[in-house]
Amino acid sequence: MELANKKVFITGGSAGIGKALLAEFIRHGVRDFAVMGRKQAALDALKQEFPEARLLLIAGDVGQPADLDRAVATIAEEWGGLDVLVNNAGVVSAGLLADQSDDDIISQININLTGLILLTKKALPLLLQSTDGALINISSGYGYLAMPFYSVYAATKAAIRQFSDAMRREHYQHPLRVMTVYPSATDTDMMKTAVVKGMDSAEEVARASVEGLLAGQINVIMGGAEREAQIKTNFLEPRKIDAVAASNYEALRERTARHRSM
Ligand SMILES: NC(=O)c1ccc[n+]([C@@H]2O[C@H](COP(=O)([O-])OP(=O)(O)OC[C@H]3O[C@@H](n4cnc5c(N)ncnc54)[C@H](OP(=O)(O)O)[C@@H]3O)[C@@H](O)[C@H]2O)c1
Repeated sequence: MELANKKVFITGGSAGIGKALLAEFIRHGVRDFAVMGRKQAALDALKQEFPEARLLLIAGDVGQPADLDRAVATIAEEWGGLDVLVNNAGVVSAGLLADQSDDDIISQININLTGLILLTKKALPLLLQSTDGALINISSGYGYLAMPFYSVYAATKAAIRQFSDAMRREHYQHPLRVMTVYPSATDTDMMKTAVVKGMDSAEEVARASVEGLLAGQINVIMGGAEREAQIKTNFLEPRKIDAVAASNYEALRERTARHRSM
């Protein structure tokens, strides 16, 4: 895949992994970006940070279908097409299920999953016109390996994995790559209220993602061989992972007690 001259839409491109992806795509010659986020100031700041980029800044909430319609209509009008959609925007609220507010449960599902599916549906007619298109969905290591205190978040991220696989198989006759990224703990605003040591940087995730895209990978799983082994164990012998989670239960409860980024 040749990235230069591609038109790329990144949800949540104003911070964290999304912004690092924007920078990485720029390094590969991309100049035309649409970026969606809720905070206008964070979108506007991209103009100073990336003067070489041509930015379509779309203030909106991926959890609001009308905002998604507006975003796709703007792209159709301004560009007449789209080559790469990166579904990256996401939120998290940790804690025992019983302690999570109904609002946080609904919002996590709505933003992380429903919004991602609806935007994909709405953007697909444009993506399928591209002769070399890509759909990149940002899941999470928890999309493979669920852990206590992240039941709702992990459910949304596992659903993204299945959605991606189905999309790839549904569109096999089209020149559309579908790739899913599974970051491990990554040092971004989302993790400010979690207590985690040794996180990846957003730049590392972005680099691996773009490398994966260029190499035609289906999945980019951060966390190395150790994470891949855990995923295999979780599939074949889930009780072994149950035991690991049980032995870390109190530590995990403490580390995640205030983890919320909504
Ligand atoms: N950081 C990690 O450890 C980690 C690990 C695994 C997976 N991930 C996933 O990676 C993705 C990016 O996370 P991050 O760590 O980069 O998060 P982040 O630093 O909090 O950035 C999130 C971005 O998404 C935007 N956003 C959030 N909710 C939105 C909404 N409803 N509508 C539109 N934009 C929205 C934010 O802008 P506004 O607030 O202005 O809307 C921001 O630009 C998420 O899907 C996350 O679940 C992260």
